[in-house]
Amino acid sequence: MNARILSGTADNIAAAVTVLNEGGLVAMPTETVYGLAANASDGVAVASIYAAKGRPQFNPLIAHVSSMEMALKEGHFSIHARALAEAFWPGPLTLVLDVAETGAVSELARAGLDSIALRMPRHPIARHLIEAFGGPLVAPSANPSGKISPTLSQHVASDMGDKVDLILDGGACMAGVESTIIDARGERPALLRPGSLDPAEIEEVWPGLIRPALNPDAPQSPGQLLRHYAPKAKLRLNVKVPDTGEAYLGFGPMEATLNLSTTSDLNEAAANLFAMLRDLDARFDRIAVAPVPTKGLGEAINDRLTRAAK
Ligand code: TXA
Ligand code: MG
Repeated sequence: MNARILSGTADNIAAAVTVLNEGGLVAMPTETVYGLAANASDGVAVASIYAAKGRPQFNPLIAHVSSMEMALKEGHFSIHARALAEAFWPGPLTLVLDVAETGAVSELARAGLDSIALRMPRHPIARHLIEAFGGPLVAPSANPSGKISPTLSQHVASDMGDKVDLILDGGACMAGVESTIIDARGERPALLRPGSLDPAEIEEVWPGLIRPALNPDAPQSPGQLLRHYAPKAKLRLNVKVPDTGEAYLGFGPMEATLNLSTTSDLNEAAANLFAMLRDLDARFDRIAVAPVPTKGLGEAINDRLTRAAK
């Protein structure tokens, strides 16, 4: 437990911006729960979020914005999506949209998907922080994977104090339940995660809500509802010597077509994973991947590789 806990003064927000610019992690209060924030466009910083949470998989993260202008750079808004944003932002609503070409959010934060989850929080400290930083921040709840979400800065300090650089204290979160996630890409809104915005309120702005998350035959976690990015190329894993004609995705000091991390740094490897797979997939039919250790973030990297090899 060694993170600094600071109040949300302008000076402390400036200190938090410095941490974010250096690739560090800041716990910030939002109106739902405390979030573990990092620069959304810095893949290595994003990788350190997954490492800090001990996530066994790379679930896509929510990118938090402070203005509509920032949001429009990241995602394509239909008329309906725009109406929801106008009605409920800032607030506990997350919109899943098609990603925009102008978007700055890293591939790893999107888990390689062509969609993006955006939310504009209402909490003044979260908004000031994003505004002062000047770009989107990804922020999953600031708890270790599998533990309950924190609603007080003390929860963050006791659960993750050794993993975050700074905790901004905003007292108790008002909602205490995560944001409601709506997939706003289709003809009708789809509820991916029930949350602190009542679906009845969504219906008033955009009727016809479908509820894939509440279908007992469907998987319950929104992460599982996603169709993951899968390469067209054939993937072979744990390959020490690639065949001729195969692209080689390396890890560690070795000759390779592309290398996830020449210094065997798992954070760097995670940050490069999706972009490098995409790049090789566009140029080769067969990809061999060097062994990646399964410790720490390696577990999530191997999980993703195994799915991509299916
Ligand atoms: O209230 C909240 O939303 C909190 C606060 C900190 O803002 N954040 C939060 O983030 O709950 P997180 O990372 O724990 O939850 C993100 C959820 C995941 O369940 C993920 O599956 C879903 O958002 N998600 C992210 N991107 C998605 C996408 N492109 N498509 C579908 N679901 C997505
Ligand atoms: Mg969570």
